[in-house]
Amino acid sequence: MTSATARAHTNIALVKYWGKRDSELMLPQTDSLSLTLSEFYADTRVEFSNRLDHDELIIDGQSINGKGLKKVQKVLDLVRKMSHIDLAARVESENHVPMAAGLASSASAFAALATAASTAAGLNMSRRDLSRLARRGSGSATRSIFGGLVEWHRGIDDLTSYAEPIMEEVDFPIEMMAILLNTEQKKVSSTLGMQHVVETSPYYPAWREVVAADMQKIKQAIDKHDINEIGHIAQTNALRMHALNLAADPGFTYFNDATLKAMHAVDDLRANGTNCYYTMDAGPNVKVIYDRADRNKIQAALSPLFGADNLIVSQPGPGTVLLDQE
Ligand code: DP6
Repeated sequence: MTSATARAHTNIALVKYWGKRDSELMLPQTDSLSLTLSEFYADTRVEFSNRLDHDELIIDGQSINGKGLKKVQKVLDLVRKMSHIDLAARVESENHVPMAAGLASSASAFAALATAASTAAGLNMSRRDLSRLARRGSGSATRSIFGGLVEWHRGIDDLTSYAEPIMEEVDFPIEMMAILLNTEQKKVSSTLGMQHVVETSPYYPAWREVVAADMQKIKQAIDKHDINEIGHIAQTNALRMHALNLAADPGFTYFNDATLKAMHAVDDLRANGTNCYYTMDAGPNVKVIYDRADRNKIQAALSPLFGADNLIVSQPGPGTVLLDQE
């Protein structure tokens, strides 16, 4: 086997990962929990070949060097070490996610890379081990190996920090709508943003406690299929994550004026009787959490404000799959 192609979907955290305690091993400060989405994904093909004299990375037809290639090589090197393969690789990825706009493009990218690279190298890894491998590329990718509602156990070391599905086939009508406000590259990467917060935000000790409590509460709400409670926990958790950024030194924010407008619109809808909640990541875009039965009402209210084309409805999505191998 020398080449393989995998498809991985993005995930959006309902209880956020925002801080590492080991950046080489990519061990997080806290547990986290996410929903994998049907609508945004990456297809990645990896080929190991003796015709190549160096690793190549092509994303959406563009050759990538520098930092982007280095992160990919970190995962390739781990695969080469595990499989005792000493060949260069060509990695070609097609991204169906607006890149670096807080829609977690790195989650799908590294989950697809881990799966394709390990298969191309002839390794037959369990999904748990794939999630550990994906973690070395990007933390949020740990969770994208699985579909539906997924928990990432922070663990105490490389072996114990992996993701696990809580409910892979989501059997209640939770849905997420992304409001695309800005698909330009973000200014502060999540890697740098979270590192700055761990180092300088005085609220960080409180955040660890917030996440521990939210993990318990959200799992109970999932058990009860209680979408309002899930949404409420997710919104509060997101605001508290973003409060860490404001309280850092120097403080910063991913919000722009359109982010605040979207947050207000969702709060107004809820105040007027349509239950929906928001969450935001390392970018200005807002994701709305709601019961599928309320989709039309929410679309009708948000379309005049943000444009119907900028509202992307997504269902819970599947875990990473192999598309082919040769
Ligand atoms: C706000 O996984 O992109 O989306 O591990 O440094 O690659 P690195 O960061 P990344 O951070 C994601 C942060 C988040 C919250 C989350 O997905 O849990």
